[in-house]
Amino acid sequence: MRLEHMTWHEVDAKLGENPSIFLPTGSTEQHGPIGLIGTDTICADTIAQRAADIADAIVAPAIGYTPAPFNMGFPGTMSLSPTLFQAVVSELLSGLATQGFRNVYILNGHGGNLAPLRKSIEENPQINVRIRSWWDFDPVNQLRKKWYGDWEGMHATPSEVAITQALVRIVTHHEADTPPEKLSMEYIKAHAGDRHGPPDEHRRDFPDGRVGSHSALACPDHGAELISVAAKAIAEDYKEFCS
Ligand code: NI
Repeated sequence: MRLEHMTWHEVDAKLGENPSIFLPTGSTEQHGPIGLIGTDTICADTIAQRAADIADAIVAPAIGYTPAPFNMGFPGTMSLSPTLFQAVVSELLSGLATQGFRNVYILNGHGGNLAPLRKSIEENPQINVRIRSWWDFDPVNQLRKKWYGDWEGMHATPSEVAITQALVRIVTHHEADTPPEKLSMEYIKAHAGDRHGPPDEHRRDFPDGRVGSHSALACPDHGAELISVAAKAIAEDYKEFCS
């Protein structure tokens, strides 16, 4: 259940049963010619909600303002510095711990969040935190590999676009018709976790916003299946984490 749809009495009662909560983290940034600005937040929030339905868990409001400095050359991207994002998460974890929450399951949808999230956990040893990105799970990866192979790429991936197509809307744009430039293994290794360069350089290197991802391979049926497969795997992982 969404935390924001509960009363404090209901939260208090739930704390007595299982002092655990989901916290989704996404981003507000360009996702290529046919990807929505809110893609990462929409994916993390929806999958956390579906997993929580299965596991009978609470989901805190998603954090959609996160670090995406490399995408600031594209209109619509809204970014926080990694240190500010880390401080926000750290204060939220500390407050939850004070109220008696013992387990926080961060469901992430944006690579750039991982390093600051890990630091905010280090600052809060009094509470158990598990971070997983929704694509971390084998059944999810099998689908991504089967449908898209290397064209999944790094940003504006067909899998995340498919999820927003299933949930929000389908966008078409001629720029997405042709595949993007293929990424080298060296590039993928060097830029994992969204370690990209300054905004002007990033827009110069990836002018339509896609980073090795052929977004147009997405379709809403894939999105619906990814949501349900990810939610199932995450609900299992959450139950194991809380037990
Ligand atoms: Ni994304």
